[in-house]
Amino acid sequence: MALHLLLLLLAASVVAADEEPFIGVNIGTDLSDMPHPTQVVALLKAQQIRHVRLYDADQAMLVALAKSGIQVVVTIPNEELLAIGQSNSTGANWVFHNVVAHYPATNITAICVGSEVLNTLPNAAKILVNALKYIHSALVASNLDRQIKVSTPLSSSIILDSFPPSQAFFNRSLNQVLVPMLEFLQSTDSYLMLNIYPYYDYMQSNGVIPLDYALFKPLPPNEEAVDSNTLLHYSNVFDAMVDAAYFAMAFLNYTNIPVVVTESGWPSKGDSNELDATVDNADTYNSNLIKHVLNKTGTPKHPGIAVSTYIYELYNEDTKVGPLSEKNWGLFDADGAPIYILHLTGSGAVLANDTTNQTYCIAKDGADPKMLQAALDWACGPGKVDCSPLLQGEPCYEPDNVIAHANFAFDTYFHKMGKSSDACDFKGVATISTSDPSHGSCLFPGSLGKNGTLGNITAPSMNSTIPDSSAYDVHSCEPRYRRLLMVMGFVMWVLVLL
Ligand SMILES: *[C@@H]1O[C@H](CO)[C@@H](O)[C@H](O)[C@H]1NC(C)=O
Ligand SMILES: *[C@@H]1O[C@H](CO)[C@@H](O)[C@H](O)[C@H]1NC(C)=O
Ligand SMILES: *[C@@H]1O[C@H](CO)[C@@H](O)[C@H](O)[C@H]1NC(C)=O
Ligand SMILES: *[C@@H]1O[C@H](CO)[C@@H](O)[C@H](O)[C@H]1NC(C)=O
Ligand SMILES: *[C@@H]1O[C@H](CO)[C@@H](O)[C@H](O)[C@H]1NC(C)=O
Ligand SMILES: *[C@@H]1O[C@H](CO)[C@@H](O)[C@H](O)[C@H]1NC(C)=O
Ligand SMILES: *[C@@H]1O[C@H](CO)[C@@H](O)[C@H](O)[C@H]1NC(C)=O
Ligand SMILES: *[C@@H]1O[C@H](CO)[C@@H](O)[C@H](O)[C@H]1NC(C)=O
Ligand SMILES: *[C@@H]1O[C@H](CO)[C@@H](O)[C@H](O)[C@H]1NC(C)=O
Ligand SMILES: *[C@@H]1O[C@H](CO)[C@@H](O)[C@H](O)[C@H]1NC(C)=O
Repeated sequence: MALHLLLLLLAASVVAADEEPFIGVNIGTDLSDMPHPTQVVALLKAQQIRHVRLYDADQAMLVALAKSGIQVVVTIPNEELLAIGQSNSTGANWVFHNVVAHYPATNITAICVGSEVLNTLPNAAKILVNALKYIHSALVASNLDRQIKVSTPLSSSIILDSFPPSQAFFNRSLNQVLVPMLEFLQSTDSYLMLNIYPYYDYMQSNGVIPLDYALFKPLPPNEEAVDSNTLLHYSNVFDAMVDAAYFAMAFLNYTNIPVVVTESGWPSKGDSNELDATVDNADTYNSNLIKHVLNKTGTPKHPGIAVSTYIYELYNEDTKVGPLSEKNWGLFDADGAPIYILHLTGSGAVLANDTTNQTYCIAKDGADPKMLQAALDWACGPGKVDCSPLLQGEPCYEPDNVIAHANFAFDTYFHKMGKSSDACDFKGVATISTSDPSHGSCLFPGSLGKNGTLGNITAPSMNSTIPDSSAYDVHSCEPRYRRLLMVMGFVMWVLVLL
């Protein structure tokens, strides 16, 4: 009993266990038709993504993320790093414009100082720790250093001999940078940011790493990798890499710095020499990764310790250069349609469900009723939505209120416009949702219905004559539509609102 307790205490003193793990998503922007920040945020909300990492500190994106309930990691792009690492005041300026100016409306929780700097910008290595310190001291000056962590994402390729994990160590030629960096992370209560790509480890292993081991698929016990020094069993590459990082840090005597995985994922398409970049493998990897992280399994070395992870990435980035796989790491295309449906049953509320592909456009929570009414008027008028199901005695009449009626009209418009994300805006009072608002015999467009048959709600034929839903004027309520509304039984609402 006493020994048990001691072991528990020891375990607790190593890496803090108080954090709940989360799944976040990286938002790369190399798309030829990058969605507008408000559409990005609508997608994040619809998919219940509550943690994101940006590769910069784009002002429009930070504004769109304000008051969204989404926690945001911003990044100092590598191009800006040299200047910051050489000047405390440049660092302070960066923090002022990109963090202080947005916080707390935008819940910025960490700053990535560069990205894989040691691999991609080796000449910045010597100023990297200065940059971390300058950014941190600017946060201290603004009294934000407890809320906002400072770190720098490392490529797992700087960890050598990573199997068995207990023998892993950081490339020694980087120790001059890594030792003061770890000292900084420890003294500021921050975490090691690590990018882990079992896809590349698998590809480069020439068959040594089984695909199933990379994809978190169960292996027969006799094929599980066992670390002969620790006798720990490894059932997937991801855990082995995280433990390799813990061991590499311990080798430099840092034993209490937690790990956050800033990137991990799997491409869904690749060139002819990238045969394992498939939709099935990407779906399997990401679905299993999410379940694994959220289950708070931890790793064999630190069971139960959260290893929060940001999936790479939200969108397929079609303008990325390199092999075809480079353009195909995304969970969604630019329209917000899923590339594949994650299998997450049982893993709780993240990235919606197995039903992610059913999307609906509904009124935003707390939207101003007057704005909703104007949008409803527009949809049933110039928007050419067939609003007859909303008439008294028709299936969608009840509940007879502006929110319920707006939901139906917005969703019908959205589907008739091919679910394009800008068809679900209505001056900001509409949002995309993944839960089916159908009720009773009122079947919403996009609903599979309770019988599993696709709802047959055909929109009036759509050619380019339909005005843009963002183009109407909230304050104009032309008599023609007012009369239409009265006919449709909205007279009460019109009277209340005028
Ligand atoms: C930011 O998110 C953290 C973690 O959920 C929460 O504790 C904090 O209150 C949030 N801050 C703001 C300003 O919303
Ligand atoms: C850097 O600037 C901060 C204010 O942003 C200040 O508190 C700190 O002392 C400065 N550090 C150095 C090394 O000059
Ligand atoms: C270790 O890092 C140095 C400097 O970045 C690099 O030249 C060398 O190739 C790395 N060694 C290994 C084994 O990756
Ligand atoms: C780690 O600590 C041990 C024991 O205190 C010491 O012998 C060793 O030199 C230290 N290693 C490093 C890299 O500081
Ligand atoms: C989740 O954790 C429990 C207990 O920690 C374990 O039995 C189960 O296999 C885990 N599930 C997954 C999917 O990792
Ligand atoms: C989502 O649904 C559309 C039709 O509504 C279909 O064309 C598409 O293939 C589906 N996507 C996935 C990933 O199943
Ligand atoms: C997933 O689906 C279940 C059952 O359909 C539902 O109760 C749950 O709220 C859904 N979760 C999310 C995140 O949408
Ligand atoms: C489901 O089937 C029942 C009986 O066949 C039918 O009355 C009902 O309209 C159907 N509902 C949907 C949503 O298709
Ligand atoms: C859907 O509606 C159209 C037009 O109202 C009709 O021609 C078609 O048969 C319907 N399809 C189904 C499956 O009910
Ligand atoms: C819509 O446009 C397509 C292609 O331009 C055309 O083939 C179709 O006939 C048009 N439909 C209507 C109803 O105008």
